[in-house]
Amino acid sequence: MTKNDTFLKDVNAGLTNSPKFLSSHYFYDKAGDELFQQIMNMPEYYLTNSELEIFRDQSEEIIASLNLDKNVEFELIELGAGDGAKTQHLLKALRENNYNFKFIPVDISQNSLDVISGRFENLFPNLEIDPKQGDYFQVLDQLFLSDKPKVILFIGSNLGNMEDQIATNFLEKIAQHLKHGEKLILGVDLKKSAEIVLPAYHDAAGITRDFNLNLLKRMNRELDADFNLELFEHAPEYTEEEGIAKSYLKSTIKQEVHVKELNKTFHFEKDELIHTEISRKYDDKILGSILNNSGLKISSKFLDTKKYFADYILTKK
Ligand code: AVJ
Repeated sequence: MTKNDTFLKDVNAGLTNSPKFLSSHYFYDKAGDELFQQIMNMPEYYLTNSELEIFRDQSEEIIASLNLDKNVEFELIELGAGDGAKTQHLLKALRENNYNFKFIPVDISQNSLDVISGRFENLFPNLEIDPKQGDYFQVLDQLFLSDKPKVILFIGSNLGNMEDQIATNFLEKIAQHLKHGEKLILGVDLKKSAEIVLPAYHDAAGITRDFNLNLLKRMNRELDADFNLELFEHAPEYTEEEGIAKSYLKSTIKQEVHVKELNKTFHFEKDELIHTEISRKYDDKILGSILNNSGLKISSKFLDTKKYFADYILTKK
């Protein structure tokens, strides 16, 4: 199946379902990547700054908690590498302390990989960088062909886009590949009040709105659909008890949308929702239950000064 066939199949399944849904995976075309960069710079999107502060101020402590042997080369594998702004601090501290490692960024976007590789080549001369393009669910097996010791980095609360059961399966799969004592650095957003969380997904400038609506634009362009962007609105919600931010696209009127590539018309009631994203927020208990039986245990935890975000060190049992 080509990439577009998969998109087509997923759109068909999601829009036929009741309630309607689309995978947040499809946000990230070129325009979506750019909008996400803008999201990370918004005043309301505290996640990036909180985690950046953790890496800026506590990389030495994070490294100490990894229990690495300076005489043995290891592979630092970053899943969903992004722009490398946070990872840069960790690499700098590893280099200053004479650790011996190779950096393997993994990302779905070749463009992201080129940016991060270029940046790190300049900053860290002689660092061995071995980028891998692909969906991290899919490239996981390939990554573990070498038997060098490994440290896995999975930060930015990217785990939060997965339903808890999928997160368990994913972490289990990583754990199966790790050797006893090897570690995963997992960065996740913490459960907190709606007053802080909701604006991060409902910013005043409307960037997150554009990010969500970009999915409709993408279907119009790639699948020859006729979504009228004026007739859908961005509808985010968050309840503190559940701890999951959810994003929807809401049809503001009763309408029909045609998707030419599917040769199909989809009906929308007024106020009908398309569910497009979950962003899960965690605490020790939630993470503990997700980790249950995964073969990983929490061995340390690093917080920012506001205690908004956490980088957990998980160790293979
Ligand atoms: C990249 C998954 C961490 O869920 O906070 C930001 C994506 N969506 N604003 C998140 C996102 C809307 C982001 N993650």
